Amino acid sequence: MANWYQNAIFYELHVRAFNDSNGDGHGDLAGLRQKLDYLQWLGVDCIWLLPINASPLKDDGYDVASYYTIHPTFGFLEEFKLLLEDVHARGMKLIVDMVMNHTSDEHPWFIESKRSKDSPLRDWYVWSDTTEKYKDARIIFTDSETSNWAYSAETGEYYWHRFYSAQPDLNYDNPAVQQAMMDVVRFWLDMGVDGFRLDAIANLYEREGTTCENLPETHAFIKEMRRFVEANYDDRVLLGEVNQWPRDLLAYFGDDGQGGSDELHMCFHFPVMPRLYMGLAMADNTSIIDILNDTPTLPNGAQWATFLRNHDELSLEMVTKEEHAYMWSVYAPKPEMRFGLGVRRRLAPLLGGDVRKIALMHSMLLTLPGTPVLYYGDEIGMGDNVKLPDRNGVRTPMQWNSESNGGFSFAPAAKLYAPVIADKKFGFAKINVEAQQADPDSLLNTVRGMITARKANPALQSGALVWMAGAPKETLCFTRGADDGQQYTTHVLHNLSDQPQQVKLPDGLEATDIFTTERVSGEVTLAPYAWRWLRG
Ligand code: GLC
Repeated sequence: MANWYQNAIFYELHVRAFNDSNGDGHGDLAGLRQKLDYLQWLGVDCIWLLPINASPLKDDGYDVASYYTIHPTFGFLEEFKLLLEDVHARGMKLIVDMVMNHTSDEHPWFIESKRSKDSPLRDWYVWSDTTEKYKDARIIFTDSETSNWAYSAETGEYYWHRFYSAQPDLNYDNPAVQQAMMDVVRFWLDMGVDGFRLDAIANLYEREGTTCENLPETHAFIKEMRRFVEANYDDRVLLGEVNQWPRDLLAYFGDDGQGGSDELHMCFHFPVMPRLYMGLAMADNTSIIDILNDTPTLPNGAQWATFLRNHDELSLEMVTKEEHAYMWSVYAPKPEMRFGLGVRRRLAPLLGGDVRKIALMHSMLLTLPGTPVLYYGDEIGMGDNVKLPDRNGVRTPMQWNSESNGGFSFAPAAKLYAPVIADKKFGFAKINVEAQQADPDSLLNTVRGMITARKANPALQSGALVWMAGAPKETLCFTRGADDGQQYTTHVLHNLSDQPQQVKLPDGLEATDIFTTERVSGEVTLAPYAWRWLRG
């Protein structure tokens, strides 16, 4: 039997952005509790919360100042427990972001560590009197950082940081740090969370002459954490943020010697994501098929997490130079649309607000192998705001209805943590949950229909993937469950182009359209950007 996370629908959301229950302009845990009906209605099985710990918010919560408390605008731990109860009562799960690689520079550990070279916590972080060490580690936030070392005036030494300089890296060579972070892990698992999205988990250790990513020591630590989780808890999941090529990712799933996984249960499939956008823009399936053919089979119990967009920039580390230039020219023509190497825009604006394309992308997400992770707001085609700094433009308030602040908050608009999207095309007056729930043909109801259909078709969840022979390169056509004894196979057709395309179904196949119940065989004509799911 598959583990729950292998077939689930994940939904990523930011508590700050989802629903404000007390009118302070910031979303909160109580507000999220009020919206669980919506998530259940949509078909969400597991909610992933962006960081909720206390933080000075120099990186929107990825700079943790206390692992044991919740950021004050979100509510108290008691509220979090109630949220977990409500989620579990609905048969849903909840995972939280766990930022293990670094803390905030305002975390008491760092304040103590930087105080003096003799501090008892000095070696909880990575200090050096020179910036010449670990030169082969790339700089991740290239827009704002010029070095992975930052100067600390108190002792005249430098500390190591892979992200913003306000996020000093913890020193995992120190057993006390390992223990402290395992304590944090235990605390949240004891509270009842169903697992973690492990932030920046490839970067835990530093070694001279390496990129300081994917080191054997990092794998050993994650395996230790997995052993701890497995020994003490049931049904929890470790989902890693590891932005690497599939061949480097495979190692993160581990190998228990019996065909099973003994490291992370899940990893995001970063390389497939930009190729879905590329395939659509070029009306050419080649790069999507190539990357999926290059994707190794996973050990038992493991699963990919697939996604279209998330809270970060649309990352483009995992494409070639030429592909990168192409992606920027199509999807980030203006400098303000870029962040580092990536694109700081949401799904709907990336696709010009064309609902056919937005639905098509969701169809690929929900039919290709992997556990789909939706990003809040993309199911209604929410817009972005490139005027906001950093990646904040894709973290604006959820658009619930056409009332003030899009129903997100009853605070005066000026008090909101970020302005709600209000432009003509993507603003809350037009794009909102309430309006789309009422319209059977809306994007929201279409996505919900796909989720329901996916859940009713085991072949789409776990069936083997076989490309449909002879389909034009302007389409992405495949069969799931074709050669692994599934009772029903599902044939999925996508037209990536703005022209009608003809697809010849396998000889002798008599299939039923899952959405219209129409019987189909022989040649199928796909309208521009059309997608069809056929059961046969
Ligand atoms: C991850 C997060 C990103 C954050 C970074 C540093 O990449 O997704 O939002 O800025 O880690 O914690």
